[in-house]
Amino acid sequence: MIKTIKNHKVLITNIGQLVTFRDDINKMQVSSNVDMAISEGKIERIGQNIPSADYQTVNAEGKLVTPGFVDAHTHPVFYDTREKEYEMRIMGKNYMEIAKAGGGIRSSVKSLRNADPIKLKNRVKIRLDNFLKFGITTIEAKSGYGLSTQTELDSLRLLKELDKTHALDIKCTFLGAHEYPDEYRNDHDGYIDKIINEMLPTVARENLADYCDVFCEEGVFNVEESRRVMEVAKYLGLGLRIHADEFKPLGGVQLAAKLGALSADHLTAITDEGIKSLIDGNVVPVLLPATTFFLGSDHYAPGRKMWDLGLPVALATDFNPGSSHTQSMAFVITTACLKLKLTPLEALQAATINGAKSLKINHLVGSLENNKLADFVIWDFDNYQSIPYFLAANSIKEVWKKGIRVY
Ligand code: NIG
Ligand code: FE
Repeated sequence: MIKTIKNHKVLITNIGQLVTFRDDINKMQVSSNVDMAISEGKIERIGQNIPSADYQTVNAEGKLVTPGFVDAHTHPVFYDTREKEYEMRIMGKNYMEIAKAGGGIRSSVKSLRNADPIKLKNRVKIRLDNFLKFGITTIEAKSGYGLSTQTELDSLRLLKELDKTHALDIKCTFLGAHEYPDEYRNDHDGYIDKIINEMLPTVARENLADYCDVFCEEGVFNVEESRRVMEVAKYLGLGLRIHADEFKPLGGVQLAAKLGALSADHLTAITDEGIKSLIDGNVVPVLLPATTFFLGSDHYAPGRKMWDLGLPVALATDFNPGSSHTQSMAFVITTACLKLKLTPLEALQAATINGAKSLKINHLVGSLENNKLADFVIWDFDNYQSIPYFLAANSIKEVWKKGIRVY
C-alpha cells in the first residue's frame, strides 16, 4: 500500500499495444501506439501524442501494456512448503486421501502454529514481492492455516501490517473455516461456535478482514456448517466468498447465491443447476485452473460454458502450499486458454477486471481508465496473445503500482 507521491507526473510513451477492459463500452479494447499520462498515482489520460511538458517520460519501446493482475484468491500466510505431498500425489494418492491421512491443510496448520513470527513474516514478504514480479498488483489473501483464535487473528494482522508497508495492495479474507483443527476433529459444532462467537466478532471489531470464506466440501464444512459461519459473517458486514464444488457439488454454490456471496471459487464439479444459481444470485465464479493442473486432474471447471452464459468469470492463482504452488498469473492464463477454452483476450479480462469485480474494487483497479489507479505491466513483447503463448516464462519488463515502478 505505498502512498502516492504528490505532484508526481509520469507519461508512458510509445506503448505498442495497450489492452484493457473499458467500462464505458463494457468490453476489452486493444489500442495501438498510445501514451498514458499518470498523475499522483492515477491515470489521467490515455491517447495519442500527449504533450510531454510537465511529465517525467518513460519510453515503453513499443511493448504491450496491460492492467496489473488482480489475483482474487490466494493463501500466502503459510510457513513450510509441502513438496513431499506433491510427490505422494504423483505416486497415486489424491488430495482428499492425503488430507485424511493428516497431510494437507492440517500439516500446514501444525507448521504455522510452531512458526517463528519473524521468519514467517519474512517468508510472507518474499511471497508478496513475487506477486509483483509476476505482474500481480492487487491480491485477495486469506488466513486459514492457524485455525485457533490467536493464530487466525495473527495471520490477518500480519497481512494488514504488510499491506501498510508493501507496494502490493492486499484485501484480506478470514478463512477460519478452512478445515477442522485436530482439537475439534470430533466436535464440529464446538469449532463453529468458536468461529462465530470468538473469531468473527474480533475480526469485524478490529477490521481485520473485508471478506469471509468457507471451504465447503465433503469431509470439511458441509452446507449447513458453511451456512452458520457465512450468516454470521454477513450479519457482521463482511463480504462472502466460498470454496465450492471443487470435488463434489454439495450445494455450496446454491448457498452462495442465497446469501448474496460475492464469489464462488473452484467450481470444477459444478452442475448446470449450480451455474444457473450463480447467474440468478449475481455471484462471480472465480476459477483456478492452475490448481486443477497442479493436482494432476483433467477435470477443469466449465469456464467456456459460464462465459457464454454471460457470467463474469474471474481467474486467480489460488497460490497455496498444497494444491497450487504458483504465483504466475500468466501460467493461469495459459491453462485457462488451453483447458477452459477462453480466448487470450477473455482470459486477460478474467485476470484483471473480473477479479476486481469479485472483490468489489473494480471502480479502483483492474482496468486502465481515467481516474483509476495506475497499476500496470509493461511486457517484453508487443501483443497480448504472447501472454499465454510464452509458456512458463515470466516475460515481464516492468511492473508499476500507483504510478511508481516497483519491479
Ligand atoms: O483453495 N481447497 C482448499 N484450500 C486450498 C488448498 C489449501 C491447501 O491444500 O493447503 C485451495 O485449493
Ligand atoms: Fe483456496
